[in-house]
Amino acid sequence: MSSSSFNAEEHKKMLRSYFDGQGFQRWASIYGDDKLSSVRNTVRQGHAVMMDKAFDWLQQLGLPKGATVLDAGCGTGLFSIRLAKEGYKVKSVDIASQMVAKTKEEATKQGVQNNMEFEVNTIESVSGTYDAVVCFDVLIHYPAEGFSQAFRNLSSLTKGSVIFTYAPYNNILAFQHWLGGYFPKKERRTTIQMIREEEMQKAMDAAGMKLKNREKISWGFYHTMLMNSSHK
Ligand SMILES: C[S@@+](CC[C@H](N)C(=O)[O-])C[C@H]1O[C@@H](n2cnc3c(N)ncnc32)[C@H](O)[C@@H]1O
Repeated sequence: MSSSSFNAEEHKKMLRSYFDGQGFQRWASIYGDDKLSSVRNTVRQGHAVMMDKAFDWLQQLGLPKGATVLDAGCGTGLFSIRLAKEGYKVKSVDIASQMVAKTKEEATKQGVQNNMEFEVNTIESVSGTYDAVVCFDVLIHYPAEGFSQAFRNLSSLTKGSVIFTYAPYNNILAFQHWLGGYFPKKERRTTIQMIREEEMQKAMDAAGMKLKNREKISWGFYHTMLMNSSHK
């Protein structure tokens, strides 16, 4: 999809219908403890590595107890709940109502729901002011133009850091992505949109953000770039 053909409304509709439909079970089992195929197991493991690193970075910000964090595109709430257990006040937002319901259910089971707020909303429209914003494995579904719009909104919600992941462009990844359409099953593919370095830089500039640190996480079929950004 070229940036000129990007239609924000259509794109959101497609993501909502996938993540509130067949994508819900797929991701809930990857983020849960169901037995998985070896391919999906690498995605679960890689994601856990990414979350540990992101958690360390967030802790290193040295925010006070009770600091507010927006988890944009919270999925089943893995990171939100971890933050709430650590004493942060968390706003968990997701485009898919099933994801938000699952996050709430898990938070309640684990007794941290009072440290959390839950909202069905998008990364483009969510509002408020937070001490930090996190957004993991959501922007990987956005081509450059949509990425830039959403990232600008997320950056405007904090004076602090935005910690997020994206899918960097490289030829091997592009090949694996292509291959992923056929293996293990075509219909299981989630579209990953790779962003080129210069497109990322443009999006950062447009949002008035700069890179603090980044780390590439590669684990089997899980590939992502974890980014820590702050205002210029
Ligand atoms: C691959 S999952 C990642 C979930 C979670 N961030 C994690 O890392 O455990 C992607 C999530 O982003 C959500 N999502 C996709 N597009 C979104 C949007 N525009 N606004 C908010 N959430 C969105 C999906 O519903 C899904 O829950």
